[in-house]
Amino acid sequence: MPEPQPALVLRRPAPADEAQVRGAARELAAEGFDFAPLLDDLAWPDWLATMADREAGLHLPEGIVPETFVLATLDGVVVGRGSVRHRLTPALERLGGHVGYAVRPGHRRRGYATVILRGCLDLAAAAGVHAALVTCADTNTASARTIERAGGVLRDVLVDSDGRATRRYDVPTARA
Ligand SMILES: CC(C)(COP(=O)(O)OP(=O)(O)OC[C@H]1O[C@@H](n2cnc3c(N)ncnc32)[C@H](O)[C@@H]1OP(=O)(O)O)[C@@H](O)C(=O)NCCC(=O)NCCS
Repeated sequence: MPEPQPALVLRRPAPADEAQVRGAARELAAEGFDFAPLLDDLAWPDWLATMADREAGLHLPEGIVPETFVLATLDGVVVGRGSVRHRLTPALERLGGHVGYAVRPGHRRRGYATVILRGCLDLAAAAGVHAALVTCADTNTASARTIERAGGVLRDVLVDSDGRATRRYDVPTARA
């Protein structure tokens, strides 16, 4: 009989996660991706409190909407993260969309992004979002595949003044 495999868990960050989250943030920063926004500027307890406030819609800076941040863990190991904006601003409508996600380099190509995006779509549905906007760079093949696997339908490809192209997908949040 094969050993049962541990399941990926999506959960809020907790006090004991600091070293792993900072490690993941360093790895993703090397790829130009912000794994834990604001973490460079805040002590860990303040960052945890800020994430909780953001989810609750408390003390939001101008232009920042409520957002849920979750870690993806496997047997206690942080392998990735997801974030869900509860609504869009004009800037998010163009670039960021409702959902962001990342998987640490050492844990890729095992289907984790697919699981994280599905979990984030559940969180979006719970926040009242029926069709999520999910975006990725036109060159990000892995992310585009992840979105398409989640049922994403390409809306368009926006090209900014620097020539960078962003794919915008509409993704139903209800489970098929
Ligand atoms: C994009 C990212 C989240 C994918 O994570 P992952 O866990 O490796 O993805 P999965 O294993 O769930 O794979 C999802 C699909 O992408 C494909 N894929 C993954 N990596 C790929 C790559 N380097 N090239 C081509 N396809 C790739 C997989 O084959 C799979 O498609 P399939 O089911 O048709 O085979 C990860 O590469 C990452 O964190 N990148 C940096 C941050 C980022 O770009 N986040 C998304 C911002 S929009």
